Amino acid sequence: MELCVALDLPSAKENLALAQTLKEHNIWMKVGFRAYIRDAKPFIEALKKINPKFKIFLDLKLYDIPNTMADASEEIAKLGVDMFNIHASAGSVAMKTVMERLSTYKKRPLVLAVTALTSFDEKNFQTIYEKSINEKAEQFAKMSFANGLDGVVCSTFESRAIKNATSSDFLTLCPGIRPFGEDAGDQQRVATLELAKQEGVDYPVIGRPIYKDENPLQKVEAILKITKNN
Ligand code: C5P
Repeated sequence: MELCVALDLPSAKENLALAQTLKEHNIWMKVGFRAYIRDAKPFIEALKKINPKFKIFLDLKLYDIPNTMADASEEIAKLGVDMFNIHASAGSVAMKTVMERLSTYKKRPLVLAVTALTSFDEKNFQTIYEKSINEKAEQFAKMSFANGLDGVVCSTFESRAIKNATSSDFLTLCPGIRPFGEDAGDQQRVATLELAKQEGVDYPVIGRPIYKDENPLQKVEAILKITKNN
């Protein structure tokens, strides 16, 4: 398991201060909507300057027509980030088009597909997708695997079934982790780090339990004790 820290603080200054606090660890940093829309490429460069070995996951969840998604993916590859994601519901043509376009890059970022957002509960999910979360997440995962993606974003509770339905190497990145049972906030399907480990999660994504802690470095080090003992 490799820890991915969600940089969801209200300003670039605060996110960079958090990165600075954690810089002795070569961990993943998740740059989401808020940070990227506001701070863009210079923010990614600033993170790399703090620790060139930080890995960057650009969490923009692309969803558009295939050609527009492929154009955007190419621009993302040019940013030099290590991983980004698209929505699985954009469909298999979009997936294929994105992967084909990126195949010309020698060192392309990993591409993951979002299955079901971890903030969904079963009832609200079914209103949109007309299937259970488990069923739909597995279907999306199989489609992503068949189209050459590297993995999916899912909850810890689907990780094992997705690997069984695809391959043990097919990556699962899971938000909604409350490492030691902290407050769930708006997340519906939360899991502890121990459970994530048992379920074969490759990348636990953790935001609030780290940046709201009074000692984020200590928290990260407690987490790394579990993730690194893989
Ligand atoms: O603070 P918390 O640990 O809940 O943060 C989880 C992060 O993962 C947030 O940045 C959220 O946007 C993101 N995320 C998620 N569910 C997904 C995909 C991303 O919670 N399916």
